[in-house]
Amino acid sequence: MTDATPTPAYLAALRSYLRGAEESALLWAYEHGREALDSGRGVLELGSVHRDAVAALLEEAEDGAEAARIHRATWAFYAEIVAPVEMCLRGYQQSIESLRSLAATLDEQVQARTRDLDESLEELKRADRARRLLLEKLVSAQEDERRRIAGDIHDDSIQVITAAYLRVELIRQALGDDEHAETLAKLDEALRTSIDRLRHMIFELRPAMLDTAGLAATIQEHLDQWARQTGAEYTLANGLSTEPSALTRTTLYRIAAEALANARKHARATHVRVELEEDGTGYLLRVADNGVGIAAAPPDPTDHFGVSMMAERAAMAGGWCRVESTGGTSGTVVVAWAPDAARDPRPADDAAPEARGAGDAAYPRADR
Ligand SMILES: Nc1ncnc2c1ncn2[C@@H]1O[C@H](COP(=O)(O)OP(=O)(O)O)[C@@H](O)[C@H]1O
Ligand SMILES: [Mg+2]
Repeated sequence: MTDATPTPAYLAALRSYLRGAEESALLWAYEHGREALDSGRGVLELGSVHRDAVAALLEEAEDGAEAARIHRATWAFYAEIVAPVEMCLRGYQQSIESLRSLAATLDEQVQARTRDLDESLEELKRADRARRLLLEKLVSAQEDERRRIAGDIHDDSIQVITAAYLRVELIRQALGDDEHAETLAKLDEALRTSIDRLRHMIFELRPAMLDTAGLAATIQEHLDQWARQTGAEYTLANGLSTEPSALTRTTLYRIAAEALANARKHARATHVRVELEEDGTGYLLRVADNGVGIAAAPPDPTDHFGVSMMAERAAMAGGWCRVESTGGTSGTVVVAWAPDAARDPRPADDAAPEARGAGDAAYPRADR
């Protein structure tokens, strides 16, 4: 604690003040107050120095009147000493007021900015919902169109070509070893090849067996064709003991088909492994190739839609799809998960909206 004993200078200044040298004494008092403030001394300490100085002067007073005059007069001296403290205090109060109003302004600005951001976020969400809805409709229209074309090829083109093939057969048999036999045999062969190609096209468009034989059998059939075309080998690990619903089935089948198309087109793979698993409230698909892997730099999405479409399809069904590739020759793995209401023990209303087969409306005819 600082020594509070009045210094000789303090006593001298007070004395000269009492003797009438008011102006110079008050100037000294003011300076003394400022120095005290600068050196961090408080008003209590200043007050106690002053009190002791006044006590010393009172002891010298000749009578009560003199003492009363000393009392009154020294008060003005003390007021001058604490004036800098008082001014400083007012300054603080003003600063605090300014800070308060600045904080209020900032608060208003933050609130306005937050409102703007909330609105932008809502806008983005609306745009994203609209984009997703549009995509759902496109995918749904695409599935419908494929099914219709496959139906037309089956009911019309194949029937017509089959009829033509049967007639050629009849003519061939009727003509016996005629000079046209070779030409007719070639025609016969060409017609049979056309029928095979059309059947293959129907499968590629929309395999009917997806709805009759199920997901694993359709993927197996697809893999057989894939292996014939590529000369590569495959393993199918089918861990399904239940059949996914129509939307989940279509979603996972299309993702598998795109992953296999990519393995054929880009990976130069000699082997793919496809796994199907029941996973939580949905189904998991994994397609791993042993090819060259996806190049480090992601391709321009405006030109290549396969990978983004896999992700979009999964998201539309309320699931997800990841393409993992570490580069080098460790190949590429496509993992997709789609929920299935039949595997979700929660009542339909409680299930997360994305797990309720958000895309059911996207495949309105999938169960037919
Ligand atoms: N299994 C894979 N192995 C190697 N590269 C792949 C594989 N899958 C995709 N890619 C790379 O990612 C790109 C984007 O694929 P995708 O979106 O399906 O478009 P696209 O097949 O039309 O090129 C491909 O062009 C290829 O470079
Ligand atoms: Mg592709």
